[in-house]
Order: sequence, then structure tokens, then C-alpha cells
Amino acid sequence: MSLLIRGGTVVTAEGSARADVYCADGVIKAVGPNLDAPSGARVVDAGGQYVMPGGIDPHTHMQLPFMGTVASEDFFTGTAAAAAGGTTMIIDFVIPAPQTSLLTAYDQWREWAQKSCQDYSFHVAVTWWSDEVYRDMGTLVKDRGVNSFKHFMAYKNAIMVPDENLVKSFARCQELGAIATVHAENGELVFHLQQEILKRGITGPEGHPLSRPPEVEGEAANRAIRIAQVLGAPLYIVHNSCKESVEAIIRARLEGQRVYGEALAGHLLIDDSVYRHPDWNYAAAHVMSPPFRPKENQEYLWRALQSGNLQTTATDHCCFCADQKAMGRTDFTKIPNGTGGVEDRMSVLWHHGVGTGRLTPSEFVKVTSTNAAQIFNIYPRKGSVSVGADADLVVWDPEGSRTISAKTHHQKVDFNIFEGMNVKGIPSHTISQGKVVWEKGQLNVEQGAGRYINRPPFHSMFEALAKVNAARSPRSVPRKAAQ
Ligand code: URP
Ligand code: ZN
Ligand code: ZN
Repeated sequence: MSLLIRGGTVVTAEGSARADVYCADGVIKAVGPNLDAPSGARVVDAGGQYVMPGGIDPHTHMQLPFMGTVASEDFFTGTAAAAAGGTTMIIDFVIPAPQTSLLTAYDQWREWAQKSCQDYSFHVAVTWWSDEVYRDMGTLVKDRGVNSFKHFMAYKNAIMVPDENLVKSFARCQELGAIATVHAENGELVFHLQQEILKRGITGPEGHPLSRPPEVEGEAANRAIRIAQVLGAPLYIVHNSCKESVEAIIRARLEGQRVYGEALAGHLLIDDSVYRHPDWNYAAAHVMSPPFRPKENQEYLWRALQSGNLQTTATDHCCFCADQKAMGRTDFTKIPNGTGGVEDRMSVLWHHGVGTGRLTPSEFVKVTSTNAAQIFNIYPRKGSVSVGADADLVVWDPEGSRTISAKTHHQKVDFNIFEGMNVKGIPSHTISQGKVVWEKGQLNVEQGAGRYINRPPFHSMFEALAKVNAARSPRSVPRKAAQ
């Protein structure tokens, strides 16, 4: 099956030009003006529209077992909702319960993800430490296409990683040419504040942000950065929500460290007033970590994105319905943490980013796909519009609009944090592996069509970093060649 996307303006991270795009066998075969459609090719008219790489959401949690329940969105419904919003790939997280083998957990997630209708890949969380974990990290990098490991610095008594294990795991990542990633919140402080707040009789969702002030995030971000600095390991910090963590990233980047940061669509747009809403269900639906922040942080995040100090956008799509959120009815610490958005990220970013002049269309492409593809080493297969790349594309109608609502979204959750937001800029067509999977409001997805995407370890980033470190600091140990 072949496809010609005709008459659009191709936008990439580098720039834009009028060009047609011809796709066959799931890949891009030609990009250029006035391409002919071979007989039998399907033609999509992209006149007046942009043709861009499909979005990559590098942070989702489909059907995650978490806080005594399981996220409501599964890999099929989640990747379908992503298609409806112009996103063509997700990077989800394998999160082994402590003492569970990383390889067993990885196999379990691979099985769950088989029903995905679009491509996907996995970060793997290191939630405990042993010789076996050390070995399994090597197997995951060498044989299973994993090049990123996640560390939760929060969620004490569950998946929180103490400093000792952060050090061991970051060092192992460095040895393997994999990138360490962190959820940066000081879990000890969060736990302490939660107990204090409950003792004061605050049991509702308004207690959630009080227990996780920005300093808790800034401290953890800085700690992870300094550990990575000493070990000479690159670092990616997920869901930065506040000035404190972004300042730590900027400082490190100015010092020459390879530190990357992600912003969530939600944190860019929503402030902490949601937790003071009189309706418990409404406030609880916004409980996620780090929490939504006072308003001034949103502008700060936008500027960090615009200046390139934050490189990626994601959603941390982790959906829980009202009956699941109700598990914390009498104790906010038991409200399952998580919110959705995989369907909405692209439109929200376009409307509030490109629509306001904060981002150019090329910068939009960078922060919605290309940078993630580069940081997680799948570029130019993903995140580009170039010959040989996967035909994962979005035809973007800058004049189209929609009002976001849980009543009409495709996400399998009964709430939408962007409810009622009118966004201008929507996908008219989403193309996954060269097939039109979303066309003017209609999904045409096939369960199981998504493929697992291997992500090889890094070389150039680590070699560059090793040179810098060798010149600068006698403490850093040169990286062993990845076996
Ligand atoms: O509240 C959140 N973010 N839930 C999902 C797990 C995580 O921390 O990323
Ligand atoms: Zn997190
Ligand atoms: Zn997450």
C-alpha cells in the first residue's frame, strides 16, 4: 500500500518547505515538489496544511499497576487515542515491583503492549538493586533494545530508589551507554510532609501540593544532576514542573553537563488552584506528581522550552477514573497519582505554543518529536520527514479547531484535565507506518499493528562526555566499552 501526501508544507526541526511526501512499505520513499502518484497509490490532499513528523510521547503509563489499582488506559486504547491527537509513538515504562526481575517485568510489559496499534518502546525502571539487576540491565541494553533506565526518587515504601542505588544504577548506565532518567522529588521529605499534613487534619486533595512543594523537586533534581556529574553520566529529568528543577538543569547545562529535561503539557497550562476546587472529584482528578504549580511556574516552563533548556514535551499519561481516585476519599496520600493527555498534547502545544508565538512550527516539531527521537536514539527513523524514515506523519490543519472534552475524547478515562479548552490546530490525518489511522475525525486503527522499537545504546554522546570529563575532573572514571 502506498500513499502520496500532496500539496502540503513539510515542517521539520530544521525548517519548512512546500513538498509532497511519498510513502510505501511503511517508510518515506520520496520528499519533494510535484511528486507523481504511482498507480494504486492513495492520495491525501494536504493543501493549506503542514506535514510534520508524528508526535512522540516519551512518557506514558498504559495499564500501569500503581498505588493499589491499574491505570484505566490500555496499550490499544491509549495508542488509538494518541493517533486521534497526531501522536504516532509512545515510550512507556516497565516498572518492576521491588525484588521482581527486570527481565520478567520487561517480558510482562512486552506482552501487554502487543495490542498497541502504533509503535512503542520502553524505558525500564530500576526499583531495587542486586547483582541480578546489574546483569539484567546489561541484557536489556545488549539484547532487548533498551537504552534508558528510570529512577523514582519519590514514592517511599513502594518504588523509591535510595541514593546508594541511584549511584550504582547511574554508574551502570554510564558503563552500558544508556541514559539515566529520574522522577525528581525528595521522597523522604514528601513522606514526612504527608504525615504532618494528615496530623493537621488535612485529608483532601488540597493536601497533595502542600506535601510536595517545589523545593522538594528542586532538591532532588539537583541531587540527581550532581550524582550524574560525578559519575560522568548523561541524565534526563522527566516532568519538570517548577522553576526550582529547571534552574538546576540550566545551571548544569551551562557547566557543560549533558542534562535533558521534559515538560508535561499539563504542567505548562494548569495551575495549583485545581486542588482547592470545592468538588472533591474534580480536585482528586488532578492529583498527579509532581503536582500542578502556582501560575508563575507555567511561564517559566514555556521560556525554558523556548530557549531549548527543556527539550521535550510529554504527558505522563496515567489515567485513573473517578472510582479509582475515590480510593483516597479520606486520605489524599491514597489517591492514585496520575492524569491523562496523550490525545491532547499536540493540539495544546500548538495552540498555546505556536498560536501565541512562543514556538515556531519547527520548534514545535523539535519539542513534540525530533528531540525525543534524538535523546532516545531513534532519530532519524522517528522524528524526521526524510527518505528512509518510518512513515509516521501528521497532516496538521492550522485552521481546524476543537473543544477538548471527556465526552468526546478517545482516551479511556472519565475526566480530561483540559476540559472545555478550545484549541486551534488539529490533525486532519495521522499516518502510522504509512497507513492513515486518523482521518478527519475517524479512527481507523488495527489492534496489534504497533511494533516494538529497539533503541540502541549511545556512542557519540558518551564519547563526547568522556572527553569533557577526562579534561575536567580526575574523579570521573572513563566508561568501559559496552560489551
Ligand atoms: O502522578 C504521576 N505522575 N503518576 C505516574 C507515575 C509517575 O510518577 O510518573
Ligand atoms: Zn513521575
Ligand atoms: Zn510518569
